[in-house]
Amino acid sequence: MNDMKYLQSLCYLLLVGLFACQAPEKDEYALNADFVDKQLQDAVAQYQVMANRLEPDALPKTYYQRDDSLETSGTRWWTSGFYPGSLLYLYEFSGDEALLKEAQAKLSQLEKEKDNTGTHDLGFMLYCSFGNAHRLAPDSAYRAIMLRGAESLGTRFNTTVGCIRSWDHNGDKWQFPVIIDNMMNLEFLNWASRESGDPKYAEMSDTHARTTLKNHFRDDYSSYHVIDYDTLSGEVRNRHTAQGATHESAWARGQAWGLYGYTMMYRDTKDQAYLDQAQYIADFILDHPNLPEDGVPYWDFDAEDIPDAKRDASAAAIIASALLELSTFAEGGTATKYLQASERMLKSLSSDAYKAPTGSNGGFILLHSVGNIPGNSEVDVPLTYADYYYIEALMRYKKRLSED
Ligand code: GLY
Repeated sequence: MNDMKYLQSLCYLLLVGLFACQAPEKDEYALNADFVDKQLQDAVAQYQVMANRLEPDALPKTYYQRDDSLETSGTRWWTSGFYPGSLLYLYEFSGDEALLKEAQAKLSQLEKEKDNTGTHDLGFMLYCSFGNAHRLAPDSAYRAIMLRGAESLGTRFNTTVGCIRSWDHNGDKWQFPVIIDNMMNLEFLNWASRESGDPKYAEMSDTHARTTLKNHFRDDYSSYHVIDYDTLSGEVRNRHTAQGATHESAWARGQAWGLYGYTMMYRDTKDQAYLDQAQYIADFILDHPNLPEDGVPYWDFDAEDIPDAKRDASAAAIIASALLELSTFAEGGTATKYLQASERMLKSLSSDAYKAPTGSNGGFILLHSVGNIPGNSEVDVPLTYADYYYIEALMRYKKRLSED
């Protein structure tokens, strides 16, 4: 090669190198607006099917293909707020008044739970439902119901422990059980303080989140499901599981609740410790060698029959929604990592592998979730909360696209 040619080749290589360094990394999982709208349109069609077959007093829990039966609940069950919440998101997307009417009928049934002091799940029950209704059309009646509900939830806070009590059952096994899921009810308390001007709800929420951060997590930032506290000393008595594979395993939905909970706590408080915790949890999930290629976790990261273990689409939907929000708080490559992981999960959930054809699945959108394997209940079935967080994630993604 003569000198001239050598110089030309060198320049060419330098230019290619420069271009490669500057070219934005291609996001192979990015979803476009048409794709997102199509998923939401399919969801609307499914929830019209669901609304048509549901008995007037019933709220959907799951569906069994073997005998084409819906399993439903009354309003006291912890999942009662998800169906009206999903309907409201889908009404927001479509403007379909029939979905709004169906949601309003369910809200009327749910209202009585505002006085329920026997559960920690009032955030799921009342904030996912009335919270969305109030967001779309502020209403003093909704506001009053929710403030009453927040008051009821607050009765479960114990100042010695610094947490809201989760369950009243299993008194022989646990003294004051707190489950990681309970992080999800704090958003309701934060709202109540903003809305009422009374800081007490947000103070309980902040204390609960801090106590949980201290006691619920292992060194690798995975979380236990149940922490049992001593009500006299406030000390931890037991670190257990209820729905995971073992006491020391990482139950997938528990990791999802923790991720969503600390992301939401950062949104509401701007406390850096909560953002750090959310990112540690996200990294535990996303860097885990047992997270499958399609991003839909096994029901437990330590399930003994991996790779044959059941997947949990509900965990993927919750994680996808949380990561979308976390990606707006994180910086640089970390934000991209969270966004792309969320897109990967949403793409998988929207594929035939996890999404039911319209008209099937009892009107539920997603297949393949797991409620409680140790309890042999709701194994590899649709679940109302899997649909709720999947719809929420799609709506978050749609909003993000419109803001770009
Ligand atoms: N909060 C109960 C569950 O996640 O199954």
